[in-house]
Amino acid sequence: MRLFIISNRLPVKVTRSSDGKFVFSRSEGGLATGLKSLDVDCEKHWIGWPGVCVEQKTEKDDICSQLEKNNYHPVFLSDRQYENYYEGYSNSTLWPLCHYFFAYTLYKKNFWESYREVNAVFCEEISRIVEPNDWVWVQDYQLMLLPGMLREKFPNLHIGYFHHIPFPSHELFRILPERVEILNGLLGADFVAFHIHDYMRHFISATERILHKNFNLDEVQMNDRVTRVDALPMGINYDLYHNVIADDKVHHAVEKTRLLFGDHKLIISVDRLDYSKGILHRLYGFASFLKNHPEYHGKVTLAMVIVPSRDHVGSYAELKTKIDEEIGSINGTYSTMNWTPVCYFYHGFSFEELVAMYYVADIALVTPLRDGMNLVAKEYVATKQDNPGVLILSEMAGASVELSDALLINPNDTDQIEQAICRALKMPLEEQRERLQRMQAILSVQTVNKWAADFMREWRQTAEKNKRLQKK
Ligand code: G6P
Repeated sequence: MRLFIISNRLPVKVTRSSDGKFVFSRSEGGLATGLKSLDVDCEKHWIGWPGVCVEQKTEKDDICSQLEKNNYHPVFLSDRQYENYYEGYSNSTLWPLCHYFFAYTLYKKNFWESYREVNAVFCEEISRIVEPNDWVWVQDYQLMLLPGMLREKFPNLHIGYFHHIPFPSHELFRILPERVEILNGLLGADFVAFHIHDYMRHFISATERILHKNFNLDEVQMNDRVTRVDALPMGINYDLYHNVIADDKVHHAVEKTRLLFGDHKLIISVDRLDYSKGILHRLYGFASFLKNHPEYHGKVTLAMVIVPSRDHVGSYAELKTKIDEEIGSINGTYSTMNWTPVCYFYHGFSFEELVAMYYVADIALVTPLRDGMNLVAKEYVATKQDNPGVLILSEMAGASVELSDALLINPNDTDQIEQAICRALKMPLEEQRERLQRMQAILSVQTVNKWAADFMREWRQTAEKNKRLQKK
């Protein structure tokens, strides 16, 4: 069996160094991080964009030869496609809409045309390498037309789709001018899955109301086949995070982090720069905590890691300015000669440094306004091992369904964030450990491999059913 994972971004990111050479590093974001450690028992290929726009054939060949050693097949985008498909329809139309930021949603004809064009480019690339019996697993909102395009070309191909971000309520989804094409695109798959039940429910309701198709429980009839849907929460590579402290490099990084923050209580926050992540709300909550609790001044530090992302999209660039200002204002107001309340990092960290921060941090503050899942919350819990720590988590993150032992907050309520920080700082160590253990018990079962195995199992069942239906 051969499995082709198709995603906008490959798990490896290519950048150009100052001397013009290509540098290969890991991609950021939940999808790439989660799927990279997927261990499936079959020949695995990955098709996606390598993160760099190149025009010259020699450069493309150079990148291809490096990536293809690992069965990664790059799809190259032109500058124009990058602007209109990636920054445009994917991240200025679909992303804000799916995250309930409909005032940020831009509707431009050339965005949509480019989205269709790039989905067709992916379809072409896949057509060059797949055989009719292969399994093609399409990932995420950037490629929602692809299942339908593939189905047209290969009526019997096995096609799956996983949606990594929220699927909004029908009331919101119907705003999208291209709602019919998008839904029909998804229904080209045999099996479509979402992180949580609510997103699945919204998809079913959108399909029923917009396409006037009726679901029979979890299935909808499509000519001579069915499309099945389900909710499967994506997990992490639990053992990797849980046992990471045994690694010498991590141990060393833990020592360094402890030395750096001394006996301060450390709150950690890690995100891509994105308005959906509630970074400003988190800062407002922390500022209010500092204002109302002078007894903690000099004793608590917020380490804020923000990984640059989509910085040419207007709404992201504006957010960066506001975050810089808010952090400047907090630090300007409260810093002393030997304490800076917010340690701000506008860059990623190595895996070892990141998990060391998770391990040391007393609190993880995860406050998205909307988030499909949020793997950072899961990584923090897993890395803790039997070290105490408290997860403060937004109830708007998909992860909150499984992680109900976190301190759950509504990120729009600054008082709640402030109170949760206080409660976490005062929580007895025994209670911290008990809560973590209960959450670890869930995460150690619901791993990324289990998620993939569950997906494959249901996908196979549906594919077999479709084969039977087509023989009739
Ligand atoms: C989210 C999306 C992914 C995306 C990632 C990083 O996790 O679900 O599809 O790859 O963000 O965003 P970027 O635009 O940098 O690929």
